[in-house]
Amino acid sequence: MFRKSVYSVSNLKIKHTMGGWFSYVWWGGDPDACDPISGLTKREIHAVQKSWAPVYANPVANGTELLKRFFRAYPNNKTYFKMLTNISEEQFSENIQFKAHVVNLMSSLNLAVKNLDQPEVVAALMVKIGDSHAKRHIKEQNFHELKDVIVKMYIEVLKLDATTLAAWGKAVDFWYKHIFVALNSSR
Ligand code: HEM
Repeated sequence: MFRKSVYSVSNLKIKHTMGGWFSYVWWGGDPDACDPISGLTKREIHAVQKSWAPVYANPVANGTELLKRFFRAYPNNKTYFKMLTNISEEQFSENIQFKAHVVNLMSSLNLAVKNLDQPEVVAALMVKIGDSHAKRHIKEQNFHELKDVIVKMYIEVLKLDATTLAAWGKAVDFWYKHIFVALNSSR
C-alpha cells in the first residue's frame, strides 16, 4: 500500500482514481492536460498518431483515394492541378506528376502528425504550407473542403470512434490556424 506522502513527489497532482497515478508515470505527465500551443492533450496526440499509422503504411494508395474523393466531392479543386487537365480519374495513378504530388501531400501530413509533440515545429511547417499555397491562390474554403473529405473518409473507411475523430478535428484545426495566417497575409 502507498501512503499519501509517497504520492506527493515532484509536485504532481496525483489523482486517486483508477489509472491516475500510473497514467502520469506512463505518459510522462498529465495525459489530459492541453498543450498551450496545439490545444491537444497527450492522449489525443496518441489517438491521432495511432490511427494515422495504418493510413501512412500505404501512402500512395491512400493519398490517391483521398484526392479522388476530394475532386469528386468538390470538383472545383481539380482545376488547381495543371497536370490533371483532361485526365480522367482512372488515369490518375499512371500520372507521375500526380503521384509526386500525392507523395508530397502525404509526407507533409505525416510530418504534421509525427511531430505533434513539438507543436512549435509543426506550426512552422504549416506556415510554409500556407505560404506555398497562397502563391497558388488557394483559399481557406479549399482547405475546409479537404478537411471535410478527410473526416468523411476516416468515418467510412477506418470507422474511427468519436473520441479519435474529435482529436483529429482538433489536430487539423491547429494545422489550419497556422496555414491560414500565412495564406491570408500578403508576405
Ligand atoms: C493540410 C492540407 C495540405 C497539405 C499538407 C498540402 C501539402 C502540399 C505540399 C507539401 C505540396 C508540395 C510542396 C509545396 O508546394 O508546398 C503541395 C502542392 C500543392 N497543393 Fe497542397 N496541401 C494541402 C492542401 C491543399 C489544398 C486544400 C489544395 C487545393 C486545391 C492544394 C493544392 C495544391 C496544389 C495545386 C499543389 C501543386 C501541385 C503540383 O503542381 O505538383 N493543397 N501541397
